[in-house]
Amino acid sequence: MKLLITGICGFVGSSLAECLLDRREGLSIFGIDNLIRPGSETNRRRLQKLGVTFFHGDIRAASDFESLPAADWVIDAAANASVLAGVKGDFSSRQLFEHNLAGALNVVEYCKAHKAGLLLLSTNRVYSISALASLPLRVNGNAFHLDDAAPLPSGVSSNGIGVEFSTRAPISLYGSTKLASEVVALEYGDAFGFPVWINRCGVLTGAGQFGTPDQGIFSYWINAHLRRRPLRYIGFDGTGKQVRDALHPHDLSTLLDAQMNTIRVGGQRIYTAGGGPQNAMSLAQLNAWCDEHFGPHAPQSDLRPRVYDIPWLVMDNCDAQRSFGWSVDVSLEKLLTEIAGHAERNPDWLEISGL
Ligand SMILES: NC(=O)c1ccc[n+]([C@@H]2O[C@H](COP(=O)([O-])OP(=O)(O)OC[C@H]3O[C@@H](n4cnc5c(N)ncnc54)[C@H](O)[C@@H]3O)[C@@H](O)[C@H]2O)c1
Repeated sequence: MKLLITGICGFVGSSLAECLLDRREGLSIFGIDNLIRPGSETNRRRLQKLGVTFFHGDIRAASDFESLPAADWVIDAAANASVLAGVKGDFSSRQLFEHNLAGALNVVEYCKAHKAGLLLLSTNRVYSISALASLPLRVNGNAFHLDDAAPLPSGVSSNGIGVEFSTRAPISLYGSTKLASEVVALEYGDAFGFPVWINRCGVLTGAGQFGTPDQGIFSYWINAHLRRRPLRYIGFDGTGKQVRDALHPHDLSTLLDAQMNTIRVGGQRIYTAGGGPQNAMSLAQLNAWCDEHFGPHAPQSDLRPRVYDIPWLVMDNCDAQRSFGWSVDVSLEKLLTEIAGHAERNPDWLEISGL
């Protein structure tokens, strides 16, 4: 089987390539990346050693797809993946839409031309910010928890956020590029007869993730804590109670693998996939873990709210479990230990990540 991974030098693209080569006999992988993400260049050599063929190209350019061989499946992992992209100032809104949405159009045209199946990596940020911000929460220790004793809107339960949760705008510019890509991918798949699976992923993280305060938060926090860089609890009550779940690309790869093995006409195409409640923690809990491993380092409190920020975001894996027998294998403790080990071995990781 031949697999194309866009954004192959990114954290997720490169990790998936490694995991899938480990899992599948006879798999041949090639990938395209424009190396725009600081740090992505570091994965080229690693991929080469794995036997992956690398094409330096840009998914915004239709002509860059012309030099790519045919694939049976495509994993679309090329994007600007920050929720602040297009509003923070370093990346214009037009650039965001060109990379994430116009790029996705070239990907589906490639799938149409080669009848290749598509695995689209979408995001938990396709969900309505006002609906997320108004979820009933309670404080337990140093973390927000969903108050499931209160009435809840459709699509959320103690298992997390599912596909039925509201996607009403505003959802962030980044989220809107992903939600629009989902619709375009489904329409192309239906019109031109290729399979499409969409996974709305929670935070994906692990060793080798490029970390900045607005993308790759687990990696950023652990590296910055270890190097005694200033850390900030931004927004809410300034004490770091905001919660995210964490999923290792290894676990995502087993889900994608199962989806590539599933032949289904019609039926559910969109899934939520994340670490889920058992792999969720607050920033304050993450900092306490770091204190225990690297010695105390106290973040500053910054009460100013940050645009698009939300206090609790955990994904519901029940649909993926039911459809594919999929479950999360890599525990939060294992994930954090893996990132910490990488941080210790790579003292300049934050600089490599562009900070
Ligand atoms: N990391 C997460 O927490 C997370 C969560 C949900 C969804 N996702 C999705 O997973 C995918 C991969 O994310 P990641 O964390 O690996 O990000 P990343 O920044 O590490 O990797 C993205 C890669 O895409 C490349 N790229 C960007 N624009 C490109 C273009 N126009 N042409 C070719 N290459 C381009 C970058 O150089 C980089 O190597 C993205 O689609 C993202 O939206 C990530």
